[in-house]
Amino acid sequence: MRTLPCRLGRYTLFDHVGRGGMADIYLARTGARPAGANLVVIKEVLPALMGEPRFARMLRDEAKLASRLVHPNIVHVEGIEEEDGQLFLAMEYVEGIDLRELMGLCSKLKLMLPVSFRLHILCEILRALAFAHGYVSDDGEILGVIHRDVSPSNVLLAFDGQVKLCDFGIASALNWATAPRDTIEGKASYMSPEQARGETLGVRADVFAAGVLAWELVQGRRMYRAAAGETLLEVSRRGVVPKLEPRGLPEEAVLYAIVNRALAPEPEHRFPSAVALRIAFTRYLEDTDQVVETAVLGAWLSKHFEEQKLALRRSRERVLTALDRGPAVELTRIADSRPHALGTTLNSAQPSPAAETEPPEPDSSVESPRSSREYDSDPSELAERSHARDQKAHVTAGLVAFVVTLAALVLLAKFGVF
Ligand SMILES: Nc1ncnc2c1ncn2[C@@H]1O[C@H](COP(=O)(O)OP(=O)(O)O)[C@@H](O)[C@H]1O
Ligand SMILES: [Mg+2]
Repeated sequence: MRTLPCRLGRYTLFDHVGRGGMADIYLARTGARPAGANLVVIKEVLPALMGEPRFARMLRDEAKLASRLVHPNIVHVEGIEEEDGQLFLAMEYVEGIDLRELMGLCSKLKLMLPVSFRLHILCEILRALAFAHGYVSDDGEILGVIHRDVSPSNVLLAFDGQVKLCDFGIASALNWATAPRDTIEGKASYMSPEQARGETLGVRADVFAAGVLAWELVQGRRMYRAAAGETLLEVSRRGVVPKLEPRGLPEEAVLYAIVNRALAPEPEHRFPSAVALRIAFTRYLEDTDQVVETAVLGAWLSKHFEEQKLALRRSRERVLTALDRGPAVELTRIADSRPHALGTTLNSAQPSPAAETEPPEPDSSVESPRSSREYDSDPSELAERSHARDQKAHVTAGLVAFVVTLAALVLLAKFGVF
């Protein structure tokens, strides 16, 4: 990970947002203020992957293609660049929370995210997939861009309720042989049997992955589990979908039939397209009077995460102001003021029983796909801690300035200026 803040090409990286299977994720800005208008996310490819020329070539091709996908439900890729042999992608910054974090928080904080909201999120993701699957090139050719990595960490929820899918096609560039083992494992949970077997893929592979998301959102727990001695990739290859347990949802049989059809092991038995699956879910929501608007989801997120959103904004604003003011001093990282850190303190003392119980209570919150130990911070401490960190940064800056001035005075005195 880089020491922040730092320059990378024309970007100033100032916050480490996270690390995924293939990249470190930073928040960066281009140019000067006003801040906010020019924030971008930089995904810097992990050095371990850069040794593969084939990987770099594929990533460039995929990123070029992804940058042409302009849609409200797709995180826009601004481009792929290279600096000192390091490849990085610049993309739209979505201020919010990813679905994996949200599922974890719901479980840890015992928040009840209504099933209608969960299915609304899914429908928005299916809009993104439908657009990409049907994407037509300038010369009229249907390119059929397949995502290949539809998974909760690639579903971003903006605090205003917008839902966006990121990392289009990037997975195809990932040479699994060089990727860290746990990355393959994590992603394998959402793979269709044909993808897990390494076969040629069609758009129905993404339909299956959306089906896994649906299964997990409806059941509130992970769909695939590996028994001792087997890997998730082996489980995905078999494609045996566990039975959906009754949850007392409206018209449950209708809903479960949709989910099961999306998860058919043979692609030809699934919904033929993301559009068809979205229509089925939309009809179900309409028929059961559960239609959700983006603004309503936004209001729910605001209600539950407003404090964290403000703490996040305040701490970033302080860093940006410090950057504007003067010489780059090493600023304390502020990444753990993101909402995902919130669940941690709340649960470190006492792991949430809901997170451990399986299957969860009807209408209980969604189980975290991650270990509960990954969430261990307290919301009330959050703002305080980020404030303390910023104060520390200011004190550090003051000390550095003091030492530099002192050294200059000593030198001047030595050369007889005084
Ligand atoms: N454009 C973005 N805006 C905001 N957060 C992002 C963006 N892209 C990625 N992230 C955050 O960084 C995390 C890690 O990203 P990524 O490298 O894609 O990991 P993964 O391989 O787990 O999907 C995401 O889960 C998300 O929380
Ligand atoms: Mg991702």
